[in-house]
Amino acid sequence: MKTIKVNASKKYEITVDYGFESFKTQVLPLIKGDTVAVITDDNVEPLYYSEIESLLEGKKVYKFVIKAGEESKNAQTYISLVNALAKSGLSRKSTVIGLGGGVVGDLSAFIASTYMRGIGYVAIPTSLLSMVDSSVGGKTGIDLDAGKNLLGTFFQPDAVYINVNLIKTLNKRELTSGLGEIMKYAFIDNRITPSDIENIDYFDLIVKSLEIKRDIVERDELESGDRMLLNFGHTVGHAIEKLYNYSLSHGECVIKGMYYAVKSSYRLGFMSEEDKNRAIEFLKLSGVELSVDFSKEEILSVMKSDKKADGDTVNFVFSKGFAKPLIKKVLFSDVIGSL
Ligand SMILES: NC(=O)c1ccc[n+]([C@@H]2O[C@H](COP(=O)([O-])OP(=O)(O)OC[C@H]3O[C@@H](n4cnc5c(N)ncnc54)[C@H](O)[C@@H]3O)[C@@H](O)[C@H]2O)c1
Repeated sequence: MKTIKVNASKKYEITVDYGFESFKTQVLPLIKGDTVAVITDDNVEPLYYSEIESLLEGKKVYKFVIKAGEESKNAQTYISLVNALAKSGLSRKSTVIGLGGGVVGDLSAFIASTYMRGIGYVAIPTSLLSMVDSSVGGKTGIDLDAGKNLLGTFFQPDAVYINVNLIKTLNKRELTSGLGEIMKYAFIDNRITPSDIENIDYFDLIVKSLEIKRDIVERDELESGDRMLLNFGHTVGHAIEKLYNYSLSHGECVIKGMYYAVKSSYRLGFMSEEDKNRAIEFLKLSGVELSVDFSKEEILSVMKSDKKADGDTVNFVFSKGFAKPLIKKVLFSDVIGSL
């Protein structure tokens, strides 16, 4: 077992373990109140819900199951869940547990942060992506018709519990999706290196990823500076995700986005040819096809509609090589012109 302390606006601990043995000592005492709402999705529920319920000794537990997938991360699901919480009698002293991937995590944390102006929240991420990224950092939210993650809050959990064994039931695509976010950290920080990806030890990679993200979030919780580093590969990646109509996983699109960020960094003179070639070989380790089926113009027009866009300019995260990110405000056409 490993614990990672987070000193954000609220202090909390992330526990990483093989199994749920340490849940009772690490998390149970931190669960506020006697009533708990476990929110999960219909893929995760049959696999892990009963085990979680049995760990919540002495609590009155309500279960809420949403349909798996991004399309559930919306206002309708949100409203129906908060109504259901109210009908079940959850009070300001209750706790929400998000048991699932990033969709369940973002939605249930948003519910916990807004229901009765904020109640207890514990995250049990179950996808690799949510273990290494979305469960930490306090960003919550849902999608609107106008775009992804447009309604949300910053809200820190009371505890995060990661059972690494849960990744065994993920399919290859979801595993690769999480790997994409892990590979991103190699461009930001030297604690993850290409050899870590050549010889994968998931427990070690999850801990290192969380420590890197924790350090960045502690420096810049509300994303006014350094936290933008975590967007490496995401400006182009989000556009690609949209162009493929969300039929590819988030991490696959981030891997493609990193490929374009690497190429832009080289063409604009920030990265040497040797480092560019090393970076591309590294990205190929993911097994994801790096190129996309869309033109520069199509990518450009979607990038410009991103919520992080600022007119014709964007704070783009370039790379000077592994662990050497560079944030620069540039014209979209500068980025896209070099793709
Ligand atoms: N808040 C943040 O900082 C942040 C960061 C990155 C991504 N996100 C959000 O995270 C979401 C993507 O997260 P995701 O990739 O986890 O997607 P997801 O929650 O849709 O999970 C992916 C799929 O895996 C299934 N699944 C999850 N755990 C499983 C397990 N252990 N065994 C078998 N199947 C399992 C789910 O049911 C789902 O079908 C997006 O909505 C994105 O916006 C948020």
